[in-house]
Amino acid sequence: MVIAINPLQPQDSFESAGQGLSDGAWDFQGQDTRCSTHAIHTYVAAMIPGLARKLIDTYVPTGGSVLDPFCGGGAVLVEAIRSGREAVGRDINNLAVLVSKAKTTYIDGDSISRIGARVLAQAKNYNGLPMRFGKLEYVEFWFKDYMLLPLTALKISIDAIDSPDLRTLFRVLFSTTVRNVSLTYRNEVRLRRMSTVEQEKFNPDVFAEFTDQVRLAAQRVPQLPMTARADVEKEDSRHLRFSNEAVDAIICSPPYGDERNGVNYTQFAKNMLYWLGYGRQDLKDSKALSLGWGKAERVVPPSATLFNTLEAMQDNPVAVREAIAFYADYYETLRQLARVVRQRVIIVIGNRVLHRTILNNAQITAELMDSIGVPLEVAHFRRLPSKRLPKMREFGAAIDQEAILVFKK
Ligand SMILES: C[S@@+](CC[C@H](N)C(=O)[O-])C[C@H]1O[C@@H](n2cnc3c(N)ncnc32)[C@H](O)[C@@H]1O
Repeated sequence: MVIAINPLQPQDSFESAGQGLSDGAWDFQGQDTRCSTHAIHTYVAAMIPGLARKLIDTYVPTGGSVLDPFCGGGAVLVEAIRSGREAVGRDINNLAVLVSKAKTTYIDGDSISRIGARVLAQAKNYNGLPMRFGKLEYVEFWFKDYMLLPLTALKISIDAIDSPDLRTLFRVLFSTTVRNVSLTYRNEVRLRRMSTVEQEKFNPDVFAEFTDQVRLAAQRVPQLPMTARADVEKEDSRHLRFSNEAVDAIICSPPYGDERNGVNYTQFAKNMLYWLGYGRQDLKDSKALSLGWGKAERVVPPSATLFNTLEAMQDNPVAVREAIAFYADYYETLRQLARVVRQRVIIVIGNRVLHRTILNNAQITAELMDSIGVPLEVAHFRRLPSKRLPKMREFGAAIDQEAILVFKK
């Protein structure tokens, strides 16, 4: 494989510039991550609300607009809305789009409780058959048999809700119910089936679980500002359809291109999406848009740090190819971000370990943005809670901090 010669020299590393260490100001250790509508759905690798809020308060003009092109569970959007900013979210995962919409759309508490009671009553009267899934979808494996009927009944009565906003909210509450009753460990990033012993003790009541979710939503959603509504769409970050300089700021935590081995957003969402009625092709289509998923030969983007790291990995061409695929897509995204923003692009990112090699994502991002003409204004660093990304520890490298990179146009 040919790697393009990269003429750039690495920028001064953050470490040698006296940065690279957390001063604690951006850690938010022990902070409540379940305030407001954040509690409604736990999306994987979510940004801490306190971090999103501090970034918005510090770097986004009052009343300005914030785009999160990888909005996931909507943490940045919720904080943008709560702070009176305009919130715009994009993601390729259908679950992320639904969750982000539900968490940022005001609905009054009475309507939520009333529709919740109706859905439940209808579901309890359901006398049809349980939904069945295809062999390849492999859904039933994650549930006990007794759960299939109440889940089916809930899904059918939620699909019949007329109001699009209420239907979206209830689809999200249903997806949380699906996740909470499934036979997987909820504090793990990847799906892993409970042991037989644990399964024996795990017999949640599906309707009771759903009722808890409705109660929580009826309390939290009305706390949003009454005019709250974010602009959330399914869109690939490499092909944003905004005009130039359409938003004041961008705040995001990008994927790391480790869909295959690390944080697999498609796998995380799969059971929820199948229950919501999405098909195998829908999941495949979304996955195909994940940064780094494409198979075509790509050119190394202009980062000397990346180039040097890839050179050191030459004995592992599969890993090199995987890294190039991701960073080429990532570079395309960064160019889009630089185009659509008026002021600042803020990227929260940690390092990645690929086949035992550390890829310094903060350094690489800074060099790529520099080449696009949007230089680094300031970098902050924060320690990660120890339980985050536990898998990474297996590779012997402690991914225990992440960088907050602020770029100014
Ligand atoms: C680290 S998560 C973002 C989490 C988010 N900050 C939150 O608080 O929940 C990265 C997200 O990027 C999305 N993603 C991956 N490739 C994408 C692409 N090409 N365009 C848009 N989103 C993408 C994934 O679906 C995932 O939701």
